[in-house]
Amino acid sequence: MSVAKKEYKRVTVKSLVDMKKRGEKISMLTAYDYTMAKIVDGAGIDVILVGDSASNVMAGHETTLPITLDQMIYHASSVIRAIHRALVVVDLPFGSYQSDPKEALRSAIRIMKESGGHAVKMEGGKEVKESIKRILNAGIPVMGHLGLTPQSIYKFGTYTVRAKEEQEAIQLKEDALMLEKAGCFGLVLEKIPAKLAQEVAESVSIPVIGIGAGNGVDGQVLVTHDMVGMTHEFNPRFLRRYMNLYEEMTNAFTQYGEDVKSGDFPNDNEQY
Ligand code: KIV
Repeated sequence: MSVAKKEYKRVTVKSLVDMKKRGEKISMLTAYDYTMAKIVDGAGIDVILVGDSASNVMAGHETTLPITLDQMIYHASSVIRAIHRALVVVDLPFGSYQSDPKEALRSAIRIMKESGGHAVKMEGGKEVKESIKRILNAGIPVMGHLGLTPQSIYKFGTYTVRAKEEQEAIQLKEDALMLEKAGCFGLVLEKIPAKLAQEVAESVSIPVIGIGAGNGVDGQVLVTHDMVGMTHEFNPRFLRRYMNLYEEMTNAFTQYGEDVKSGDFPNDNEQY
């Protein structure tokens, strides 16, 4: 039996670099499950991030720390089954890469083998340099993540804007250059001043994707559940809500409940 020829052109790490070169902005959103990934991919979003924010969004944890490698693999494999075009980047969760480069490589290999993801993302700068190099040597594309790195929330103590002080800004710029030199194909900058993010984006040839990092970078990422308004308690300034699904879903569930109780549902056309 022949497989139908697919009409779309897949996004690759190389196409992202080419997009930066020609000044085309890159769109990125999170997904943790098949149904959401199918919609995000179908809408033509370039990159799907299977973020460890699944720990908050899907499991209700206060931080991203509790999610495990097995759980990330489960989420990522569900996403991979849905996509036709987007590049799928999978977060290495807290505790799966910090202790040594060999462990980092083992974790990255598990993600690639068991989920079918296309690349991994990991938080941190010079402290994870050796791990990044080892993963890259195995042929696995790596995306960096600097600025507010939620896996270090207990070190920061707060989710406020990072790198406002000169010393931290200098370190962040050095880390970005190091990540580029090490061979990362891209970089996420989270919640840092827009001017600093623009400077970083202009200083490296790899795509810089911002979240709360202004418009001077090469692309944007948001948590999908936040931008469609399914979550409603989290209201940072950088978040643009495109829908209010929390309200719409609440209305739908309320109406359904009433229809069931009143006997209105199902009607004659909704049964066999
Ligand atoms: O886990 C995540 O969703 C992320 C984005 C916020 C960049 O890392």
